Amino acid sequence: MRSYIEECDFFKGIDPEEIAGKYGTPTYVYNEEIIRKRMREVANVITKYPYRANYSMKANSNLTILKIALEEGLNADAMSEGEMRLLIKAGFPSDRIFFVPNNVDRSELQFAIDNGIMTSLDSLDQLDLFGRLNPGGKCSVRINPGVGAGHHEKVVTAGKKTKFGVAEEDVDKIFEIAEKYDLKIAEINQHVGSQYLDPEPFLAAVENFLRIAEKFDSLEYIDFGGGYGIPYHKLDDEARFDMASFTERFTALLDVYAAKYKDRLPLFKSEPGRYCVAEGGVILGRVHACKQNAGKKYAGTDIGMNVLARPTLYDSYHDIEILHKGKAVSRDVLEEISVSGNICESGDLLCKERPLAHIETGDLVCVLDAGAYGYSMSSSYNTRPRAAEVLITKEGKDVLIRRRETYDDLFALFPEINS
Ligand SMILES: Cc1ncc(COP(=O)(O)O)c(C=O)c1O
Repeated sequence: MRSYIEECDFFKGIDPEEIAGKYGTPTYVYNEEIIRKRMREVANVITKYPYRANYSMKANSNLTILKIALEEGLNADAMSEGEMRLLIKAGFPSDRIFFVPNNVDRSELQFAIDNGIMTSLDSLDQLDLFGRLNPGGKCSVRINPGVGAGHHEKVVTAGKKTKFGVAEEDVDKIFEIAEKYDLKIAEINQHVGSQYLDPEPFLAAVENFLRIAEKFDSLEYIDFGGGYGIPYHKLDDEARFDMASFTERFTALLDVYAAKYKDRLPLFKSEPGRYCVAEGGVILGRVHACKQNAGKKYAGTDIGMNVLARPTLYDSYHDIEILHKGKAVSRDVLEEISVSGNICESGDLLCKERPLAHIETGDLVCVLDAGAYGYSMSSSYNTRPRAAEVLITKEGKDVLIRRRETYDDLFALFPEINS
């Protein structure tokens, strides 16, 4: 692929320089059409049985994007009280929110209980706490199915070496706690990990989870978690996650379960985050300095690890396009470049010694596939205000959907400044 942003007309005819001029850099830019398309795909993964996709909002918690998810008929997963509050603000009714925390205090659980939000308990201790707070209530338990998957050790969320869920061998203890507090275990949930393009481990986990589900009586929901991957190497024509064949194989596994439980089928659920939003977001940043260090070329930009943490945190790969005067620079001739941010850390690199199109000071860099775990993981490290977020609407308008943070925002928490 020569240029992703030009091939899909990511900016819908708007000159990226115009966006950068109007909103500054770095700025996250989202394409509404792409996000809606991906959300529709996940909503229709299973059509043969009762099924709901929950958008996992930790991937991108912008209020406008949450409203798009709501319009697309998705339910939503929240990992914290803050996320539940934001979903409520976006208009999600409580029965379309699923709270999937781990290691929370009683006040967060109480918030979910008071708002009638179905909650997953991640350990026997948390289940016991929930029972004390809400005897006679209904809840879900997160089971660790013993197998995991994912692009990096830090995003594998099941299996023997992770902190998540209740081990299968402790299922009897779940029943003991449920009996003690008269709790109904109406749901079990799992999440094996994130960013897999090979569906094998997920499908194996589904099969295993359906076997575990048979230990529970009259489940209303079985939630298989998220993790569908996206092609981060799209400039090298990496293949997409094959949704059609995935649907076929996933459905075939559900067929086996449904044949046994046809009179009391639960609602099957999944929890995709990244797949919904990653490809619908890019970051526009400015090259402020180019230099040679020990014979290696560096392009210094304003997209630091504070703006996009993934490369530093997980060694994640993001395609990068170079825009000269708003146009993608040809990739016919490539030069080896390390692209860095403006943070005082040697790990502050978007890429290291990668063949890229020619870069000059003053160019824009466009980091692809930044819509998931981009802004939501960003920080104000080095006391840099967080970036702005702009949506290119389906009508082709650019709309500010989160203003850039200001120094006043950053300093507002210090009592001596405010008194
Ligand atoms: C419990 C849970 N569900 C869903 C997700 C979403 O995963 P992904 O964005 O890879 O689809 C995560 C992410 O780690 C998670 O922890």
